[in-house]
Amino acid sequence: METEICAEGSDRAVQLLADGEPVALPTETVYGLAADATRPEAVLKIFEAKERPFFDPLIVHLPDISWLDRITRDRSPLVQKLTGAFWPGPLTLVLPRREIVPDVVTSGLETVAVRMSAHPVFQEICARFCKPLAAPSANRFGRISPTTAQHVMAELGGRIPLIVDGGPTEIGVESTIVSIDGDRIRILRSGPVTAEQLSEFGGVVYEKRGDAPSAPGQLQSHYAPRTPMQLFKHAHEFVPVGNRRFGLLAWGHSLTVHPFAAVETLSPTQNLREAATRLFAAMRRLDEAGLDLIVAEEVPETGLGIAIMDRLRKASANG
Ligand code: TXA
Ligand code: MG
Repeated sequence: METEICAEGSDRAVQLLADGEPVALPTETVYGLAADATRPEAVLKIFEAKERPFFDPLIVHLPDISWLDRITRDRSPLVQKLTGAFWPGPLTLVLPRREIVPDVVTSGLETVAVRMSAHPVFQEICARFCKPLAAPSANRFGRISPTTAQHVMAELGGRIPLIVDGGPTEIGVESTIVSIDGDRIRILRSGPVTAEQLSEFGGVVYEKRGDAPSAPGQLQSHYAPRTPMQLFKHAHEFVPVGNRRFGLLAWGHSLTVHPFAAVETLSPTQNLREAATRLFAAMRRLDEAGLDLIVAEEVPETGLGIAIMDRLRKASANG
């Protein structure tokens, strides 16, 4: 299959979605691989292209807020407050589902993950399609999420018919995923909407580690480069051994004298937003630099830094 990249505003995406085909679309977080969420045979093509195991459920993206009632059952005031505050935007809610959602989307769970993307291109295509779109990140399973159309091409070229190019994504890390537990908000995956922001709406708890993951994004190894990666507090703590090629994923200023064959700096001014935007592209470039090991520096674990550290830990789980 030949994969085409088209500019935003093309009719092709809506036509292909109506034909039950998967299409890669930009969102404000990362690129997603979208298909008609109400048609199991369309959704199956997402799993096939990504080589994603069926136990890993998908996020359903709604064309507008009226769809929330048609897809889910929870009418708690907390849900209304959260959607009112953060939608459209990078917050995904896991809620009890209705029958209209096929089993393949939720991996047979009684809940469904829903969000509304704030990206104008995604919104326009979803609104014209008039139906919810199931869309996981547009990478092969377990690999680095794509933040440009070219990344999607590298991951899924030859496997899907179309990528809509909306330029680099603004945020760079995947949405925050939460479930509602009475009047508490349970964070299943940290992301751009921070615990601090959520705490204005209710008590915030983190999903306990070590339990069976209720969001497989929580699997230990995920978002991973092929090159082994190790996490250090500071780059100077890394002691190179052997005649091997090392790369550095630096947080702020990089060292002037260092043993690294390639260096990517997340944010020279140590700005977490900038670091999030650059994270996956930088990881991908280092992965392509023919290195034996990527040394990653920790970022401060506050605000958006919590989501970045979560991705760095999972990417280095096999290092
Ligand atoms: O920003 C994002 O969320 C991007 C863009 C494309 O929207 N999407 C994304 O999807 O990151 P994906 O499939 O890569 O990650 C979705 C995560 C998975 O870890 C999945 O296990 C979890 O959401 N998930 C989906 N449905 C769930 C459910 N019913 N209960 C718990 N976790 C769920
Ligand atoms: Mg993903």
